[in-house]
Amino acid sequence: AAIEKGNYRHFMQKEIFEQPVVVAQTLRSYLRRVDQSVALPQIDFDLSTINRVTIVACGTSYYAGMVAKYWFEQFARLPVDIDVASEFRYRDPVLEPGGLALFISQSGETADTLAALRHCKAAGQTIAVVVNVPTSSMAREADLLLPTHAGPEIGVASTKAFTCQLAVLAALAAHLAVKRGQVSREEEAAIVNHLVETPAALNAALSHDEEIAAMAHLIAPARDVLYLGRGPDYPLALEGALKLKEISYIHAEGYASGEMKHGPIALIDEAVPVIVLAPSGPLFEKTVSNMQEVRARGGKVVLISDAEGIAEAGEGCLATIEMPKVHPLIAPLVYAVPVQLLAYHVAVAKGTDVDQPRNLAKSVTVE
Ligand code: G6P
Repeated sequence: AAIEKGNYRHFMQKEIFEQPVVVAQTLRSYLRRVDQSVALPQIDFDLSTINRVTIVACGTSYYAGMVAKYWFEQFARLPVDIDVASEFRYRDPVLEPGGLALFISQSGETADTLAALRHCKAAGQTIAVVVNVPTSSMAREADLLLPTHAGPEIGVASTKAFTCQLAVLAALAAHLAVKRGQVSREEEAAIVNHLVETPAALNAALSHDEEIAAMAHLIAPARDVLYLGRGPDYPLALEGALKLKEISYIHAEGYASGEMKHGPIALIDEAVPVIVLAPSGPLFEKTVSNMQEVRARGGKVVLISDAEGIAEAGEGCLATIEMPKVHPLIAPLVYAVPVQLLAYHVAVAKGTDVDQPRNLAKSVTVE
């Protein structure tokens, strides 16, 4: 049956709003509620023998991989190498026995990613894929198939596939942490409980839709927009900037908050909005001082944080968007929502073709 937009104006909008349901659907196949454990499908080899993970992907899927790098290192204490697929093979990466090569793709057909997969297979790596199309080439060629259950994604700019990838990767990180003895059974149960709360947190994030639509006119006239984040929210800053570029054609850059002083700060004036992604927590104070550097130069900040963060640093911002306070493992999924909505509403305000942006393809099958 043809996929319809229903009551939505664009597929992208529909897909953004589907996230609580499809993320829940995806998590359901990785979490066992009875004993609150993480259970990966189709595991017929021992993941505790893995000594290194190499992550390869393109575009939005690559940013999901960047988030996973933080998780695999932090929770599972596994060394991670990551690259975009178009660079990976050509730098002749060192691939030692015992390595897991992890490919992330919505379509499962992106030419560069598929070529990288075959390269790693030939080099004797165990091949895992996080993929949304179960009949795709990557799904067929994987040793370990980790499906996302986002359903067909029509909008060229990826949204629900991204959060479903993050859901699978969070479960994989937790599973690897258990296998490697980094996490006790109690901690595993606690992680499962946090993951189960994700759909509700996504709904809470989506409830800010109208508020974000109302602030689109603040961003739409900009020529450049800067996105800042730290830790696992740094890849979210990159993803936010990518979404805005893709569909509104505004030049946007994502930067690690602390790196801004090494360059992009030169761009800051009252015409360059700066979107700061900063959940409260141990990294918050540092990010607040980066925000102050922006404000001292007349820059206009949109702060995306939780109630605690906004109470502490929201004053003097152009706007604030309040996210629910969540466990650090699910924060990147939740913070994806406001950056998607912001890009969407800015594009609508500018009147661009949201679902079919110029020059872009849903699946890129050339290298
Ligand atoms: C294209 C799409 C992006 C997507 C990227 C990777 O550029 O427009 O939305 O993130 O390809 O695609 P994949 O199917 O491998 O995730």
